[in-house]
This record gives sequence, structure tokens and C-alpha cells, in this order.
Amino acid sequence: MHKPASTDFPVHDLIRHRWSPRAFSDKPVPPAILASLFEAARWAPSSSNEQPWAYIVATKDDAENFAKTLSVLVEFNSGWARHAPVLVLAVAELKFHANGNPNRNALYDTGAATALLSLEATARGLAVHQMAGFDPAKARHAFEIPDDWEPVAAITIGYPGDPQSLPEKLRDREVAPRTRKPLTEFVMSGHWGHTSPIISR
Ligand SMILES: Cc1cc2nc3c(=O)[nH]c(=O)nc-3n(C[C@H](O)[C@H](O)[C@H](O)COP(=O)(O)O)c2cc1C
Repeated sequence: MHKPASTDFPVHDLIRHRWSPRAFSDKPVPPAILASLFEAARWAPSSSNEQPWAYIVATKDDAENFAKTLSVLVEFNSGWARHAPVLVLAVAELKFHANGNPNRNALYDTGAATALLSLEATARGLAVHQMAGFDPAKARHAFEIPDDWEPVAAITIGYPGDPQSLPEKLRDREVAPRTRKPLTEFVMSGHWGHTSPIISR
């Protein structure tokens, strides 16, 4: 299924076509393709080129780690995410490696890396669905994540599936139109709350 964004200004097709499905096909994702997604994340910009991200990957054929990742998701998410062929935890390093000072951009940078991963996935006919709905303490314990690293998001990756495979409530959400705030609400110039003339012109 496709749910292209209906944009007010033209954007690249990759951006229009990226979306977050909950229905996934059970078709496995070849390891070389997965590697390309993480390669895309690798080339994200980051503060001081710190690259403060790590990804813990579990493919469905690795039953033990797949179950371990599933077990850290909230029930709402594990219900649909269990059908995806790949589960991932995105983790951010909260301190600068060199001097141990706090890196206040770590979450920002990890999100940027995951955004690139998502676009690479879209280019390859794959879908990515990020989730805040997981238990970070459980994830830390299950995967022995060090104290200086913070689990920030769980992620499903796979080929999009048939919305009919979802329970009714999720199916309705799957096919509902995608919505966004207007640009006038968040592109400002001069002072806070003043819509930029770039937009309002
Ligand atoms: C950081 C983050 C956390 C999210 N958490 C969840 C989640 O726990 N469960 C879920 O079903 N979707 C989750 N989503 C997906 C969003 O609901 C989705 O991106 C948003 O509705 C926009 O839809 P789109 O990605 O299809 O454009 C999350 C997305 C992001 C980026």
C-alpha cells in the first residue's frame, strides 16, 4: 500500500512516499539490503562528527533476539510489530567519547541518522516504523546497554503488507489519510510565532 504525502509545496518523491505502516509482509529483508540502511545512517551529520548512535538489530530468523526485542515493546506495539521481519533498537551515547562531557545533541543526531535510514529504506521499497512505545529500562537490561547510552526508539523494518492483515482498529488507522500541521504554524521569521514570509507570501 502507498500513502504519499499530499504536500503544499513539491518535495522529493522519497519524502512523499515514506510512511509508517503497521502491516508488514513476512518477506525477509536480505542482509545486504539491511546493511545499506545502516550505511545510510552512518553518513548522517552529527555534532562534532560524534556519531552517537548504535542500532541493535534482530531479524526474525534469529528467534532468540527477535523475541527479546519484542519483549521490550509495549503491548500495543508488540501486537503488530511481531509480524515485521526486522526489529531494531536505536540507542544514543549521551556523553562525548573523548572527554565524558554531556552531548546534548545525541538524541537529535540519532534521530537524524534514523531519518536517513528511513529514506534509504523507502528507496528500496521497504518501510520503517519507529516506536517510542517500549520500556527503556527493560531494553537496557535485556541487551546490557551501558549507563552512558540511552535506548531512544524501537524500529520495525520490512516490506509493506496488506492492511487487511491488521485487526479492525489498526486497519482503519492504516488506511486513514496522513495529516500534518500547516507550514504557517512552524516556519517563523523575526520573532516567535511570526510566520515566515517565505510561507505566507
Ligand atoms: C520517535 C517516534 C515514536 C513513535 N512511536 C510510535 C509508537 O510507539 N507506536 C506507533 O504505532 N507509532 C509510533 N510512531 C509513528 C508515528 O505515529 C508516525 O510517524 C506519525 O503518525 C506520522 O505518520 P507517518 O510516519 O506515516 O507519516 C512513532 C514515530 C516516531 C518518529
